[in-house]
Amino acid sequence: MRIVLVGPPGAGKGTQAAYLAKNLSIPHISTGDLFRANISQGTPLGKQAQEYMNAGELVPDEVTIGMAKERLEKPDAADGFLLDGFPRNLAQAEALDEILVEKGIALDGVLDLEVPEAEVVKRIAGRRTCRSDSAHTFHVEYKKPRVEGVCDECGGELYQRGDDSEETVRKRLEVYHRETEPIIDYYKAQGLVVTISALGKVAEVTQRAMEALRQKAA
Ligand code: AP5
Ligand code: MG
Repeated sequence: MRIVLVGPPGAGKGTQAAYLAKNLSIPHISTGDLFRANISQGTPLGKQAQEYMNAGELVPDEVTIGMAKERLEKPDAADGFLLDGFPRNLAQAEALDEILVEKGIALDGVLDLEVPEAEVVKRIAGRRTCRSDSAHTFHVEYKKPRVEGVCDECGGELYQRGDDSEETVRKRLEVYHRETEPIIDYYKAQGLVVTISALGKVAEVTQRAMEALRQKAA
């Protein structure tokens, strides 16, 4: 399946993507995780992205689209993928369409995670992210690691993302409403969107998402 995941910062996109990608045997491609990996490796791309991310702004399309395209060219994405955090504005959605048309393939669905803003704030405030792989995320209350401060999956150190400060989260939410929400209508016009509530336990949301995707594919 070829799926795009949308939802505000802190909705649980990364958390759900990890389970969905495993269940569906497709790679989880998160542009946020790709940027963070570049930052920790000190690459030129990471240096370009960092100041935008710290400010809660979108990294410019020229950088982001090229990076996403390169990732989608990798062999593991040939038979399907779960995109998390890309596209994030209309220009990126159009660029993705072009990439897919070139390959003669199309999206199967766009899963829209709905969460009230108050819950988003709680989820982000308690989030702890693994320094070695930012796809590994935990929560001080809702998804505690077995050992405090240590990633269950790889033993990496858990830290609080720099852009998870209250001020930057406010900015990211503003950017989400202005830049990203319009892509939901763009995909609705293509009949691709399934919206689910992302409230409840992580496993309940995964079940809801799997059921919604199954119906979409049927
Ligand atoms: P990105 O990394 O994509 O951040 P985001 O969209 O702001 O989303 P988050 O990762 O903060 O949240 P999430 O929805 O993944 O939630 P999570 O699963 O962690 O982007 C970061 C930055 O990179 C952007 O601001 C931008 O600068 C740049 N960028 C990235 N992509 C770009 C693009 N395409 N174009 C331009 N710039 C781009 O969950 C949150 C917390 O809640 C966790 O602690 C988790 O354990 C907990 N949780 C999850 N589900 C539940 C549940 N059901 N119940 C209770 N707690 C839960
Ligand atoms: Mg994420």
